[in-house]
Amino acid sequence: MEKSVYTHDAASAAAIAAAYDEPPLAYVRSYGCQQNVNDGEKIRGVLLDCGFGITDSAENADLILFNTCAVREHAEQRVFGNVGALKRLKEKNPRLMIGLCGCMAQQPHIVEKVRSSYPYVDLVFGVDGIDTLPALIAQRLGQKKRVLQTPVERNAVVEAVPIRRDSGFRAWLPIMYGCDNFCTYCIVPYVRGRERSRLPEDVLKEFTQLVQAGYKEITLLGQNVNSYGKGLEVPVDFADLLNMLCAVPGDYQIRFMTSHPKDASHKLIDTIAAQPKICKHLHLPVQSGSDRILHEMNRHYNVEQYLELMNYAKQRVPGITFSSDIIVGFPGETEEDFAKTLELVEHVGYMQLFTFIYSKRTGTRAALMPDPATHKEKAERMGRLLALQDKIAMQQVASMVGQTVRVLVEGAARTEGMLTGRLDNNLTVEFAAAEEMIGHYAKVSLTGARATVLTGELAK
Ligand code: SAH
Ligand code: SF4
Ligand code: F3S
Repeated sequence: MEKSVYTHDAASAAAIAAAYDEPPLAYVRSYGCQQNVNDGEKIRGVLLDCGFGITDSAENADLILFNTCAVREHAEQRVFGNVGALKRLKEKNPRLMIGLCGCMAQQPHIVEKVRSSYPYVDLVFGVDGIDTLPALIAQRLGQKKRVLQTPVERNAVVEAVPIRRDSGFRAWLPIMYGCDNFCTYCIVPYVRGRERSRLPEDVLKEFTQLVQAGYKEITLLGQNVNSYGKGLEVPVDFADLLNMLCAVPGDYQIRFMTSHPKDASHKLIDTIAAQPKICKHLHLPVQSGSDRILHEMNRHYNVEQYLELMNYAKQRVPGITFSSDIIVGFPGETEEDFAKTLELVEHVGYMQLFTFIYSKRTGTRAALMPDPATHKEKAERMGRLLALQDKIAMQQVASMVGQTVRVLVEGAARTEGMLTGRLDNNLTVEFAAAEEMIGHYAKVSLTGARATVLTGELAK
């Protein structure tokens, strides 16, 4: 693994300062998963470091940057739709710089599409280019030609990148980058590169800074956190890392995602059981309830192994809740396969389910598999899955009523005077309280539920 440390690029900052009469403003919008959201926070940090201000309004910006996601076709279409809408702004303000970065920009055919069909996009760079952004902007300012980078896989870990976090009490903390699993439907390994872990001391340093800065919830991120440590010289695994972090004194809680079932170990579950600072919630994406489909997906576990792990977790961690991702309509999925998914969902009783209709991704192995089911059939299956999960989630949520729990107060609810809080198990509760409570813990008695949102009142 190649590790480098971010350095301030004074020459580019000077070039940027010279190009504008007033300090320029940047608007950054991130799509996709938490990793990408965290990258967006770093992009803002780097922009501040080279002299930009940050704005929430695209209309006022001198630089508009879309940090994109490629996981499903719909995500890509949305970005192109939004980029298309910028043409108007560019006509009004020819000096406006428009950039596209992130996972989409890591695919050669997307860069080609921008080159041929989106002449007003000035800047394209991939997921490993964040630390080079000041130089790319300076380059664009100094030449007539656009800066459209051909995607390269740097597979590096860059430490100490400046960051402008969205929240003052909840933070994302990547512990690893990339993915080596090559699930056959998934584009992520192609756009995010090979799996590489940050050094434990670098993770611990950032974690400690967050706790000292008063962060109340820190979510550790990786496409497969359970393979943390592979390839490092020090023998350390994810459970070891969790134990190390939990030793940092302070009033905070830890979440993590995503756990791949093939690598989630009993040791991990024992650690969740032993450490009060770790939330009692496991996001364990199963993707399908059919062993045949799981094999075709290259997931490396079967339903029996998955359930064994869950049972162990239920025994060791009383009250633990589960959530999952499911893909409906993977190539070749039959009605019989889908029935097994419904059966599994019914059996497990997930608190939350994130469901996706299979989307064909060019370059993945599943894109070459015969896919006879029509979109209509897949949508119909999705409807049945959602109806089942609604019923289950409502039962699960209702079963919480009567308990008094600690929540992290996250923000204002839609109803005036009401705030939302998140339980340890990832459910949301609405209750009346003063806004000063946002960003703090509160004790809430759960009094009722509206669909899957709990209602409650501050406990005496
Ligand atoms: N690394 C995580 C998930 C990353 S992507 C994991 O392994 O669980 C988030 C979710 O998007 C996946 O869990 C999967 O359910 C969904 N997904 C990924 N590729 C997809 C595709 N081509 N079509 C539909 N859903 C997809
Ligand atoms: Fe994609 Fe599978 Fe890697 Fe998750 S583990 S990012 S689904 S290839
Ligand atoms: Fe999307 Fe890239 Fe994340 S493809 S889901 S933003 S890793």
